[in-house]
Amino acid sequence: GSVAAVLPAGGSGERLGAARPKQFCALQGRPLVSHTARALERISWISDIIVVVSLEHIETMKSIIQKYGHKRITVVEGGVTRHRSIFNGLKIFAENKLSNCPLQKPEVVIIHDAVRPFIEEDILLKVVKAAKDHGAAGAIRPLVSTVVASSADGCLDHSLERARYRASEMPQAFLFDIIYQAYHQCNDYDLDYGTECLHLALKYCKTKAKLIEGSPDLWKVTYKRDLYAAESIIKDNLS
Ligand code: C5P
Repeated sequence: GSVAAVLPAGGSGERLGAARPKQFCALQGRPLVSHTARALERISWISDIIVVVSLEHIETMKSIIQKYGHKRITVVEGGVTRHRSIFNGLKIFAENKLSNCPLQKPEVVIIHDAVRPFIEEDILLKVVKAAKDHGAAGAIRPLVSTVVASSADGCLDHSLERARYRASEMPQAFLFDIIYQAYHQCNDYDLDYGTECLHLALKYCKTKAKLIEGSPDLWKVTYKRDLYAAESIIKDNLS
């Protein structure tokens, strides 16, 4: 069956504190989102790539597609939260909104953040295979810090045993019908506060969500220092 990808890129990038959202910051002369999209476009078995951006960045994204010669990208308008952006991306396949150019509904959809540029074929193969076997799958990493919860007075309430937990990263992959159904059935709380697509699939579709060990390169460019790190890796890769 076919495999497509949805890249949420509709965030505001507030934590970076730059003039524009991090996904549009240039690294070695190419916007971050274009690096990530290019990595996916190099993989021949991924058919369509949906890049979801906020309304104000649709024209920016279209000019990036033109300038950097992307061939398989469709731009879709995002929502106020990451989940709503992803859901908008999925709707393109299910509701045939593009009357002039309908996209075929894929068997499996990969969801990958536009701000994780170092994505390689082997991890994508693993999550896609696991999604076919289980319904859903996603990359995880060991925690680098212990997770704590505070009580109302701002003091420690409890902490989690670090070795038992993992950070949920990207990419994730789903049977299309499962994740689409999960988004349809979930409530506003899930869409606005829920942070985990794998969990939505588990909760609403009773599917298993296989956890796959990812690599440190999958980290999410979040803060300004991450842009420096990403740029130097890209520079090394180019030379
Ligand atoms: O905010 P966070 O770091 O979790 O964002 C992860 C990804 O989700 C980013 O690529 C960001 O652009 C995207 N996003 C989105 N729509 C939103 C918020 C975030 O597509 N409303």
